[in-house]
Amino acid sequence: MQQSHETQNSVGVPADTKDAVKVLSVTHWTDRLFHFEVERPDSFRFRSGEFVMIGLLNEAGKPLLRAYSIAAPFWSETLSFYSIKVPDGPLTSRLQHLQPGDHIIMKTKPVGTLVLDALLPGKRLYMIATGTGIAPFASLIKDPDVYEQYDDVILTHTCRDVAELSFGAHLIEEAKADPLIGEMAQEKLRYYPTTTREQSAKMGRITSLMEDGTLFSDLNVSPLNPETDRVMICGSMGLNNDVKAIIESAGLEEGANSKPGTYVLEKAFVG
Ligand code: A2P
Repeated sequence: MQQSHETQNSVGVPADTKDAVKVLSVTHWTDRLFHFEVERPDSFRFRSGEFVMIGLLNEAGKPLLRAYSIAAPFWSETLSFYSIKVPDGPLTSRLQHLQPGDHIIMKTKPVGTLVLDALLPGKRLYMIATGTGIAPFASLIKDPDVYEQYDDVILTHTCRDVAELSFGAHLIEEAKADPLIGEMAQEKLRYYPTTTREQSAKMGRITSLMEDGTLFSDLNVSPLNPETDRVMICGSMGLNNDVKAIIESAGLEEGANSKPGTYVLEKAFVG
């Protein structure tokens, strides 16, 4: 992990740009993954798990924006985002060079379905993430309402290799040490990391581990039960569709803000 604090050549937007917010810190977790923290505009309110549009200006001076989950809980004084670096990605190829003191554009209209409000009451909450899909859960695992509403909170995170799990492992440590929600997280939050392309303590796609029952036996819980279990999914389109098929066959139904259900999903941004 490399953290940068000095201000160098700016790739950001001029500070007086509409909707500009200041970058406070940037942490590179791997060659492909980084996390950055920005100032929270005073009047900005959001629900844990929501996303906003963020970005830079393109060559023509027009905003180039993409949807990013806010990787901080609703009560956080600062906001943060977790991103992949795509070498030829129009936004991330530039965003990855951000330095503290730079500004980015952030539209202050939070939206999204990975929110507690879109789920019916339940006992066990699964948060299923792959890759940068862990970002909204970085928010939710620090939300006290999660622990007030659920007895058992399970975060699964599947990445290609062990290094890509490091951000998530750090989040779990942070949550368990947090003065506000630490005690609740220690009691209720369980972390289930897996890798698919490098040897680790637990290997396999989460879909395979669900289908063959390994996930449930490892966690010592019953298979999915629509009466008690709620699921939030965030990953690639393929992951979302495959998990959706598995949990729908167990009787879970997709929820939305307007009509809460027993699972919700959102696509993690790539590019
Ligand atoms: P795999 O290595 O078998 O493709 P990515 O970095 O491509 O976004 O993938 C993140 C993780 O998600 C990888 O471990 C990858 O496994 C896994 N993954 C990708 N697609 C699916 C899918 N359709 N079902 C289950 N796991 C998936």
